[in-house]
Amino acid sequence: MSTRKGIILAGGSGTRLYPITHGVSKQLMPVFDKPMIYYPLSVLMLAGIREIAIITTPGDADQFRKALGDGRQWGVELSFFMQESPDGLAQAYLICEDFLAGAPSCMILGDNIFFGHGLPEILQAASAGHGGGTVFAYRVTEPERYGVVAFDAAGTATAIIEKPQAPPSSYAVTGLYFLDGTASRKAKDIRPSGRGELEITSLLELYLQEGSLSVEKLGRGFAWLDTGTHESLLDAGNFVRTLQQRQGVQTGCPEEIAFRKGWITGEALSSIAAGLSKSDYGRYLKQLCVEEGF
Ligand code: DAU
Repeated sequence: MSTRKGIILAGGSGTRLYPITHGVSKQLMPVFDKPMIYYPLSVLMLAGIREIAIITTPGDADQFRKALGDGRQWGVELSFFMQESPDGLAQAYLICEDFLAGAPSCMILGDNIFFGHGLPEILQAASAGHGGGTVFAYRVTEPERYGVVAFDAAGTATAIIEKPQAPPSSYAVTGLYFLDGTASRKAKDIRPSGRGELEITSLLELYLQEGSLSVEKLGRGFAWLDTGTHESLLDAGNFVRTLQQRQGVQTGCPEEIAFRKGWITGEALSSIAAGLSKSDYGRYLKQLCVEEGF
């Protein structure tokens, strides 16, 4: 079986964050001390995924290339793709059809932030799955804003409905989708929804209908944060700041993940740290080098 590949969907117009997204992509906004996209990128890296497609709008592509480079500094390979207009999340599988070349994938939305004890193990288990798909459901107070899971009495997922007026449960589907190599083929069978988008929930429904979708609940010990509004963006930044200040460890730090996975050497980490020495982020990397004897 071929190696699982990653997709970060970082397009969209960011209209809910106007005027700050007039000149800069939402997914490059700071969430405390680093660009938003570092967090979903870190999730893919924690899942062990090293070949990653970044989908952006045509207008933002250069900024993403500048912010992320080709990924080599983090021991990963980044390729950039463009989505001409925000026609829906499932379109990512059409845009990346050649990139995926039939491989299983993990797509994460560029504005989704996950945090929780045991997350790497959950990600690795989902990544190791063969065939079908795995998605995660998370209890939220306003499910009608998301794709919502309907469960039967036995707790088995029976349907996934996009932004339902009467939510069948309080469980939203998070923006993290482990799908098998048939995703691009299945995406071709989807038709645009009433709002004119190729909905990810329509794609997930196809997996559900063939009985191959696993819906796992993320418990209350996890944080799945929203960055969709000015308030929630600030809340996410404060959440990261609170954790990092209290624990003295970074969350969403690609350099640290790459180093701990053995994808980059201590010398490489040390050289990145030197280039960032005026920021707390750089000082953290420097401290890591010292602790690890580099
Ligand atoms: O966050 C999880 C939710 O994401 C899921 O529960 C929903 O099922 C799913 O449809 C999606 O809902 P949203 O309303 O949050 O989707 P939104 O249109 O805000 O897009 C999510 C991100 O994806 C956003 O950062 C912009 C980007 N995007 C969106 C569209 C529609 C693209 O890059 N291209 C697109 O075509």
